[in-house]
Amino acid sequence: MVGNDEIRKALEVVIDPELHRSIVELDMVRSIDASPNGVVDVTVSLTTPGCPIKGHFQTSVADAVAKLDGVTHVNVFFDVLSDEQKSALQQKLGRGALPEGSLAQVANVICVGSGKGGVCKSTLTANVAAALSAEGKRVGVLDADVWGYSIPRMYGLGATRPAVSPQRKIIPLESHGVKVMSIGFFVEEDAAVVWRGPMLHKALTQFLQDVEWGVLDYLLVDLPPGTGDVSMTLAQLLPQARFLIVTTPQQTAQKVARRAAQMAEKVDLQICGVVENMAGFTTPSGERFAIFGEGGGVELADELDVPLLGRVPLTMPLRAQADAGTPLTIEDPDDPAAQAIRQTARGLIAIAPVQLPTLPLVEVVPPAAPAAPDESRKPVGMSLPMA
Ligand SMILES: Nc1ncnc2c1ncn2[C@@H]1O[C@H](COP(=O)(O)OP(=O)(O)OP(=O)(O)O)[C@@H](O)[C@H]1O
Ligand SMILES: [Mg+2]
Repeated sequence: MVGNDEIRKALEVVIDPELHRSIVELDMVRSIDASPNGVVDVTVSLTTPGCPIKGHFQTSVADAVAKLDGVTHVNVFFDVLSDEQKSALQQKLGRGALPEGSLAQVANVICVGSGKGGVCKSTLTANVAAALSAEGKRVGVLDADVWGYSIPRMYGLGATRPAVSPQRKIIPLESHGVKVMSIGFFVEEDAAVVWRGPMLHKALTQFLQDVEWGVLDYLLVDLPPGTGDVSMTLAQLLPQARFLIVTTPQQTAQKVARRAAQMAEKVDLQICGVVENMAGFTTPSGERFAIFGEGGGVELADELDVPLLGRVPLTMPLRAQADAGTPLTIEDPDDPAAQAIRQTARGLIAIAPVQLPTLPLVEVVPPAAPAAPDESRKPVGMSLPMA
């Protein structure tokens, strides 16, 4: 009779096409049961119940085991990894390995951060994304500021909850051609959301794994102020991300931004550029005031040896449009702040050209849309803590 070790050895040839490793190495072979009459039952654990590559496992496992002497028939069964097993798998794969499903078609991930609050990260993220979209790029914005989310308001979104696709993925809302996802779509406005580390990690993971981002040239991530938990979590989940640093011309802001840069370097996120915001104010009569001083942006960019992608002046319409829900780059592309932001977007295109990663060729048969009531159409994977 064929032994379990022999069967396990034979299963080493079965590769998970998304994770690029053998299902044995990934601990996805839950059980092997060989009977004396040559019938072998193998149970494989999947990451999600609706795993589109189930068919691949079915055939490859059956083929690999059927080749062994003494095997007359192979039954392949499936179950789903528990949350603990999933996190063990994630640890085994090292950072960033699991979100591949939803982000596989995203060419560039750019985190916008500063270390300091209120320097216009969110306004810039919303406007740069709109400008990239106006340049014909496919763009998404992930609002990672789970405590102080402001992206929905800047895009005039928030009244609708995102829908869930038949494949049980959350569909981002869309505004001015930009796909948008924010925690603000799931909580009552002004509700105080208390996040503990694991919940935060879970919510961000779900935003990356269970959102139908589709094909994107750029996914911009609006980071919260500071260099805390969120940045670390994202760095773990998104090793391919780059970091765009926002600062003001002021020395103190520049110091804080430098700390953010050091954090990014520590977690191996590549810094791709600096944007200086609040770079002076020009009165209607043409007089310019350097309200926040001069030179912080260029100094920081020189120090980090990255380009200064833009110097955005203070203008009232930039603030007004952020409050009104239409990005200024769309509403008035000729406003001086909008022009600087459009230049920043073009700089980003130059330093982060669109190169889609090559995907393994897997024939994906979309599962039939379930005729189940809406209630059962919850996204798979981890549920949003507040959903
Ligand atoms: N250059 C500018 N001209 C006019 N208003 C600006 C400018 N930069 C920022 N603002 C305004 O300042 C406020 C703070 O900006 P924003 O919310 O984008 O900052 P943030 O860095 O994302 O803040 P937080 O750290 O709280 O997330 C907003 O009302 C924004 O419209
Ligand atoms: Mg913000």
